[in-house]
Amino acid sequence: MARNPALPLAAPGENPFAQKGDAGQTTGVKDEFDTIIPRRGTGCIKYDRKPDLDPFWVADMDFQSPPEILKAIRKRIDHGIFGYACPQPGLEPAVLDYLVHRRNVADADPAWITHLGGLVPALSLAVRAFCKPGEAMMTCTPVYPPFLGVHRDAPGVDLITVDHTWRDDRWEFDWEAMEAAVTPATRVFLLCNPQNPLGRVFTRAEIERLARFCEARNIVLVSDEIHCDLIIDEAATPHVSALNLDGPLRARTITLLSPNKTWNIAGLGYAVAVTPDAALRRRFEAARGHTLLEVNALAYHAAEAAYRHGEPWRRRLIERLRANRDELAAFIGKSGPPLRVHPGEATYLAWIDARGLDVKNPTAHFEEKAGLFLSDGAFFGWPGWFRFNFACPPETMRRGLDKIRNALP
Ligand SMILES: Cc1ncc(COP(=O)(O)O)c(C=O)c1O
Repeated sequence: MARNPALPLAAPGENPFAQKGDAGQTTGVKDEFDTIIPRRGTGCIKYDRKPDLDPFWVADMDFQSPPEILKAIRKRIDHGIFGYACPQPGLEPAVLDYLVHRRNVADADPAWITHLGGLVPALSLAVRAFCKPGEAMMTCTPVYPPFLGVHRDAPGVDLITVDHTWRDDRWEFDWEAMEAAVTPATRVFLLCNPQNPLGRVFTRAEIERLARFCEARNIVLVSDEIHCDLIIDEAATPHVSALNLDGPLRARTITLLSPNKTWNIAGLGYAVAVTPDAALRRRFEAARGHTLLEVNALAYHAAEAAYRHGEPWRRRLIERLRANRDELAAFIGKSGPPLRVHPGEATYLAWIDARGLDVKNPTAHFEEKAGLFLSDGAFFGWPGWFRFNFACPPETMRRGLDKIRNALP
């Protein structure tokens, strides 16, 4: 496909995502990721859902968004009129530049883009669009809990789950188990890449094999890539988007992207569904009916600023996440056999095996004995595990880890 002439590409050498200066290097000095900003009472679910507990659960960060995003939101607020919103002229070029330069989609086309107020509604839309009663959707576990619930939004749709498997020192797809579990009635596969909570960044070979698995069975591949800008070492584990598949395989995919996680703006809500195939896109969009709120005015402006100006901050963030991830892994390693963790390749979420603890429910145990709010592995399909969110100043993380150590039975 020819490169879209309308694309407002940066001229060669002007790639806004290119690394400049020493941005992204660990400086060892205190920075914006050390500051503890009180969040309790601000109406955030992380701190206010169970105000007596120390929260390391839901996937948002205790870091303030970059100044460029705050400035863009303030500018929009200062206008003072908040009628029904639509994307401002700068948003689409920013998203397209992001697709071209960060996701390596040279032929990205504005027509492929559906703006949404969040990524989870897109998971639901996909199931509603492509599964009829009696049909099924499939995913691999453990996985972000809404993957295990969206089939209920479509009457009579079954959920097929297959566990990821540990092989060659990493979490992988269990191809044999998937072949055995898939049915002729399976119409949608929900992929999480990078994987929450396992932290895997799947290789090109894995993504291509999954796409072929879907193609052979007339399954639509829906790829949730919300964590793709949170890869700790992109040189070692580059992200392969479903948009990087070859033509016929790509034509059967819907790719879901969002600045929400990376720039900590989930409370504003914005995501894009990128669907190269027009017929697939029409069915996907038709499923929304009147069920979705429009994107809000502030979210559109925050998203543009994130994609346009967020790269230097993102690089610094990754350095902090790397340091926290490694410190957490060392800590859990030293805490002895009852807990085990494998440092993830992406995300700020550690997936901790607590099956060795002599307790019925590790998350309930640490809530009761340590005052911690953790994510219970049962909601991801794997009881006995828990997820720890380490996107916080190191001091905050250490307090949580100490509480875990002191509450080990
Ligand atoms: C894999 C995955 N998808 C989607 C979401 C949520 O996306 P949104 O807040 O845009 O609905 C999360 C949040 O943790 C996530 O981890």
